[in-house]
Amino acid sequence: MIILGINAYHANASAAIVADGRLVAAVEEERLNRVKYAAGLPSRAIQYCLDCAGVKLTEVDHIAIPRDPWARWGTKLRYAMRMPRFALDRARVMARFAGIREDLAKAFDLPPASITAQFHRIEHHRAHLASAFFVSPFDRAAVLSADGLGDFASAMWALGEGPGMSVLGETTFPHSLGMYYTALTQYLGFWKFGDEYKVMGLAAYGQPEFLDEFRRMVYADGLLSFRLGLEYFSHQNEGPDMTWRDADRTPVLGRLFSAYLEKRLGRARKAEEPLEARHRNLAASMQAALEEVLVSHWNALAKSTSQKNLCLAGGVAFNCVANGKMLERTPFEKIYVQPAAGDAGLSVGAAYAVEHSILGRPRNFVMEHASWGPRYSNLEIAQAIRQRVPNDDGIQLEELPEETLVQAAAREIADGRVLGWYQGRAEWGPRALGNRSIVADPRRAEMKDILNERIKHREMFRPFAPSILEEATAEYFERTHPSPFMTFAYAVKPEKRAVIPAPTHVDGTARLQTVSRRTNPLYWKLIRTFGDLTGVPVVVNTSFNDNEPIVCRPEEALECFFRTKMDALVMGNLMLRRKKTSAARERPAQLTTRQTP
Ligand SMILES: [Fe+2]
Repeated sequence: MIILGINAYHANASAAIVADGRLVAAVEEERLNRVKYAAGLPSRAIQYCLDCAGVKLTEVDHIAIPRDPWARWGTKLRYAMRMPRFALDRARVMARFAGIREDLAKAFDLPPASITAQFHRIEHHRAHLASAFFVSPFDRAAVLSADGLGDFASAMWALGEGPGMSVLGETTFPHSLGMYYTALTQYLGFWKFGDEYKVMGLAAYGQPEFLDEFRRMVYADGLLSFRLGLEYFSHQNEGPDMTWRDADRTPVLGRLFSAYLEKRLGRARKAEEPLEARHRNLAASMQAALEEVLVSHWNALAKSTSQKNLCLAGGVAFNCVANGKMLERTPFEKIYVQPAAGDAGLSVGAAYAVEHSILGRPRNFVMEHASWGPRYSNLEIAQAIRQRVPNDDGIQLEELPEETLVQAAAREIADGRVLGWYQGRAEWGPRALGNRSIVADPRRAEMKDILNERIKHREMFRPFAPSILEEATAEYFERTHPSPFMTFAYAVKPEKRAVIPAPTHVDGTARLQTVSRRTNPLYWKLIRTFGDLTGVPVVVNTSFNDNEPIVCRPEEALECFFRTKMDALVMGNLMLRRKKTSAARERPAQLTTRQTP
């Protein structure tokens, strides 16, 4: 039984394939076509998934699409009558989804009739819920999806039991936690799609001075729902307006906040203007108000389901700061967040909704790691290197057995060098988790500046994350709940903050990845070896990219390595080192970590 899930015609297009209940492959289109947040039909991702499963498109049994244009059609119709642009947009969406068989046939050069798979349309939030619960380790759990908007809803919650899921409630447009966060992200001068992370990082620098005002913007409505103070927002009048930038084909969301919000909080910050204390306090207030609503919602959900297990999906599930705090403030004891919790994960969710909710098949799979993307052999890596570095070219290249390779790599990190670490299958989801990562020494406070200045070129207030051996979590963090996909931020123990200053954020927290020997053995070995050398079983882990989608093919890793000032690169069993003296070794003492953006 082969089920292909496709998230198409929307940002974060992706594909996933499930064979007899087991996930075989999942990948975002952006990794393959190199367009960040790529939309459209993810034909490269589909091809990759089919290749992994060893089938042709004509041999797929079911195709699952996480969009149901007919869901909540009455509400949509009411808004469509008020908003002509919205109506046009809806009509376009319906037409595109109606023609997906033809689009697939065209992309794969097949007659439409040869695609005999049964097509299923899974409502957006039901696909989110399925993406979280059906691949979780729980037999029973409360399940919550919260995002900006999908199929005219912004949140849905359910009780998952075995291969079934009972939806308990939903919140519909225009009320939306995702829209709230994005609107304030725009107001603070961050307009790029996906910039919400930046404001979450900024919030740690401020005080929730404006919390009372924000409580009017977003608030719990009863226990199991929430509302927006709609006068602060504009999307309910004009509709959320998504366009695509010509230059790089990335999505652009139209303005979501209203003139009233500016009247209450002052003029919106322009992107080029400096970040002042007021902006930091606004970010802190925004995050605090969100957390208040989530505490209320999660507590009510725990009570109504009598569950201690929770599964999360939707963009709000990426708020690792809130997730970490909810473990303290709600009865939930175990929380599972799938690595692609956002809309990319809908392809997995739609496929599993078909597998269990429609076909009624039993569950036999748990997603314990994120290694579901493309893998390249040592031979392919060596060929890519030979092509990119035909001569010596200032590079030292060594082929090493695993033990020696790991020792050499750990030594590079311990010596203050910045190391590219490229191994195995590309990660599913937006986080690099030890397969396409840049790793560095967490003990050096200056490493944050080094990474920013030489490689990542990010805002200085954004924190870098640590990867820690799972078994060492209690030694360094106040909480030990696993965070294998970097979806929780915990307080670093006070006595350890000076030990790992590079990934410790200004508020003493870190968005950690707990690394398991069982599910990520080679990365675990690297951190363990680094720990043996230094006494600290932690590395800084940031994604292998520089303002682009995370590298996928060896060629992209090499390009990033040469374009940036990385010191060394391990790819498969090969190690590349620059022969020149490392700037990291020369300059660390001259750099300081800035505490205030
Ligand atoms: Fe969504």
